[in-house]
Parts: sequence; structure tokens; C-alpha cells
Amino acid sequence: MIISANLKTNFTRKQTSEYITELDAFLSENGISQDVLVFPTASALDRFEAKVEVGVQNAYATVNGAFTGEIGLEQIEEFGIKTILIGHSERRHILGETQEVIAEKFNFYKELGFKIVYCVGEPKDIREAGKDTMMEYISKQYDGIDTTYENLIIAYEPVWAIGTGLVPTLEDIKDIHSELKTKSKAPLLYGGSVKANNAKDILGVENVDGVLVGSAALKIDDFKSMITDAQNLNKEDR
Ligand code: 13P
Repeated sequence: MIISANLKTNFTRKQTSEYITELDAFLSENGISQDVLVFPTASALDRFEAKVEVGVQNAYATVNGAFTGEIGLEQIEEFGIKTILIGHSERRHILGETQEVIAEKFNFYKELGFKIVYCVGEPKDIREAGKDTMMEYISKQYDGIDTTYENLIIAYEPVWAIGTGLVPTLEDIKDIHSELKTKSKAPLLYGGSVKANNAKDILGVENVDGVLVGSAALKIDDFKSMITDAQNLNKEDR
């Protein structure tokens, strides 16, 4: 399974380095065979010699150039990073990234062979409008995205569940994941208020191939406990 931490705009460079070092020791000491991904904030990126796979939370679709405030391939390559998060709801809804921009980014990093964790998910009002509206909304987030890309991982993150403590029922997760699996056979993660006390149940749901964790991953012991849950569930065949 794929257990991933999106650290968002948290931790200094030193804290991030300590976090990854501690996590790496944990993986080795416990013989963890799951894929563990960490997305630190851009200023904390480094060439980590770790079993933990480090990715960027965002990058512009460029090698370099005049794009104030952004990073591009040149800055990512410096650290040997080949993994990127694209389409996160905070970038869609807070930073205003359109599907067009997101698809451009996707295609740029796909051409470079990056592992792409691509996020989709609906806001609360769309959810409340019913399943058809919701699936239609999510389907549009696949526009311009190569769903057969071999290095693709999809993360289903309902916007209303992110940072709120609200989680869909396990039945709902199962239902949506099975629909999303018809759109792409890529590994499918669930994200949105995954905590140490619900990770095991969520990871046990059919068609859940892992989790993308925000706030709870900031507590390293909680994140370790989720990794242990994944290891114990033993769904490596997925
Ligand atoms: P929370 O786990 O804080 O809800 O965040 C989820 C998320 O956005 C991961 O990308």
C-alpha cells in the first residue's frame, strides 16, 4: 500500500529533515514493505538518502524561467526528486488553479516520467447535490489527464473532509472508489481527515490502495501507526 504525508505549509527545514530521518529509521527497524511518500514544503527539500520517497507538493510546468514564487524542474532535479503532487484541492480552491493549468502541469511532468499523485474530490455543496452531480464534477477533474499513465497514483480527497475531522462513511468510500476505479486502474488513495484511529478501517476498504494524510501526519507517532496498520493489513498485492 501507499502511505503518504502531505506536510503542506508546516515544518522548518530542520524539522523536516528530522522527521524524514526518524521515519526512515522506523521503516528499517520494522521491516516495512509499504511505499511511504512524504511531501515537504518547498523550502525544506533536500537530497534525502532515505527509503522514504520524497516528492514536491507543487511545481510549475517549466524547466526554469520567469515565474515568480514558483519552482520548476531545475530546482526539483537538484535533489533527485521524481515525484509530484498535482491537483490538490488547496491549489484548486485557494490558489485558483484551473483544470487547464493542472492538466498542463500533469502533462509536463508526465513527459519527464515523474510519479504523479493526482488529487480529485468534490466540495460540500456538490456532494449535497447528489451522486450524479458529484460524479459529474469529479469526472471533469480527469479532463486532460492520461488515466493510463503508468506512474500515476490518484488520491480521492473530498474537499469537505480535508482538515475538518469529517470523513465519508466506509460504505461511501467503497462506493466512490469503485466508481473511480472504472476511470483509471491506477492505485487509488483516500485522503481527508485520516487519523491514527480511523486509518486501519479506511485502509481495509475495498479499492483503497493507501492514504494521503495531512494534519495527522504532522504527529510522527500517528503517521507511524498508520504505516504499521497498512503493514499489518498485508495488502501488498494491491
Ligand atoms: P487532512 O488529513 O488534514 O484532512 O488533509 C488531507 C489532505 O489534504 C492531504 O493532502
